[in-house]
Amino acid sequence: MNPFLAVSLFVNFRSVVHALSDSLDLVGINDVHHGKRVGIMAVEIVRLLGWRGDDLDLVLDAGLLHDIGVSSSDLHHQLVEEFDWEGSQGHAEFGAYLLSQFPPLAQLAAPIRLHHTHWSEMKGRYGRTELFGNLLFLSDRIDVLAAVAMLKNELLEQVPAIREKIASQAGEMFDPDLVKAFLEVSRKDAFWLMLEADPVRDYMEKISRNARPAETSLETLHGVASLFSHVVDAKSRFTVEHSEGVARVARYLCTALKQGLDLGDEDCAKLELAGYLHDLGKLRVPDAILDKPGPLDERERRQIASHAYETYRILTRIQGFEEIARWAAFHHEIPNGEGYPFRLQGEEIPLPARVLRASDIFQALSQDRPYRAALPAKVVLEHMKQLTESGQLDRIIYDIIAANLQEIYRLARPGSE
Ligand SMILES: [Fe+2]
Ligand SMILES: [Fe+2]
Ligand SMILES: [Fe+2]
Repeated sequence: MNPFLAVSLFVNFRSVVHALSDSLDLVGINDVHHGKRVGIMAVEIVRLLGWRGDDLDLVLDAGLLHDIGVSSSDLHHQLVEEFDWEGSQGHAEFGAYLLSQFPPLAQLAAPIRLHHTHWSEMKGRYGRTELFGNLLFLSDRIDVLAAVAMLKNELLEQVPAIREKIASQAGEMFDPDLVKAFLEVSRKDAFWLMLEADPVRDYMEKISRNARPAETSLETLHGVASLFSHVVDAKSRFTVEHSEGVARVARYLCTALKQGLDLGDEDCAKLELAGYLHDLGKLRVPDAILDKPGPLDERERRQIASHAYETYRILTRIQGFEEIARWAAFHHEIPNGEGYPFRLQGEEIPLPARVLRASDIFQALSQDRPYRAALPAKVVLEHMKQLTESGQLDRIIYDIIAANLQEIYRLARPGSE
């Protein structure tokens, strides 16, 4: 049993889910509101059918999370390029699997599994779950059509064609009752205008303003952070379990450090969360750059470097996560001021962030990368020593690593146990 799980933080759980779901939308790279638009449209459609209260909240959250099985920018591209793509079921299954592992969101697994299943294939066993899944499918496909029109700045002109295309699939891809409701709500320009970036942001901000923080157990927060770490780590075969390994090493180092320093159980628990979430912003980096086997050019380097700032943006929006946001986002800051994205110097970088940076480097060195194989523990330690000698790593952190090398190496690569 993890001793930190007894700690709780004062945050609104749903706000945490909403903020983290922002990272899923980053996979669209230049079109970053897909999940939110799907959620908002789905809510408007079933509101017309008489759904109210908690049911609408559930629909919004399902929209935000429906693509939790997609971390690859190539896959995302495919899903928006083709209206009805044969290979789409894989991400629906993976997303449903991830959600089913986390009890507070497990009820969304079944509808999300169905968010690319044709209505005509579900006849005979069509209940509320199937309707919910088809609602997501419908809203998702409307958005694919709308997003293309929005990029060209001609959404309202395209509305008749979009409505026609959707209507032509009533009774085939989509539930005829849902299509009827969509045709009714989408007669108003307002339905389409609310899909623009600013109204979408306003919609989400209004929800977060009304969200009251409450005691939320670390167990729940670890569950949701680990869920999203799986999405980030699934982006590349080279980073499988990277964030989980970083979280484990960071917690270990923090626990070892806390005796002599001003760190408590709550700090170490928060640092573990920061470990799970530190690379969230990587979801915006195109696959081809992350998996590139050779050296990166300047533009590619800049694109990768922006991930720490994207992480910051997502996490600072969560009330109660202020420290976690800083620690996670500072994991590429170096005491000599040469790091990114804030170019912090020396003591400006809080100790937990420095621990996280050490954990990140340690884990990355002990895992395969596109340009080199995993390094053995001794060689990893040698690298850490060089960093320490050049003033980039705290001696106190290095000493703990050196004294517990094998154990930390095992923690860094949980899959290899
Ligand atoms: Fe989608
Ligand atoms: Fe990173
Ligand atoms: Fe990392």
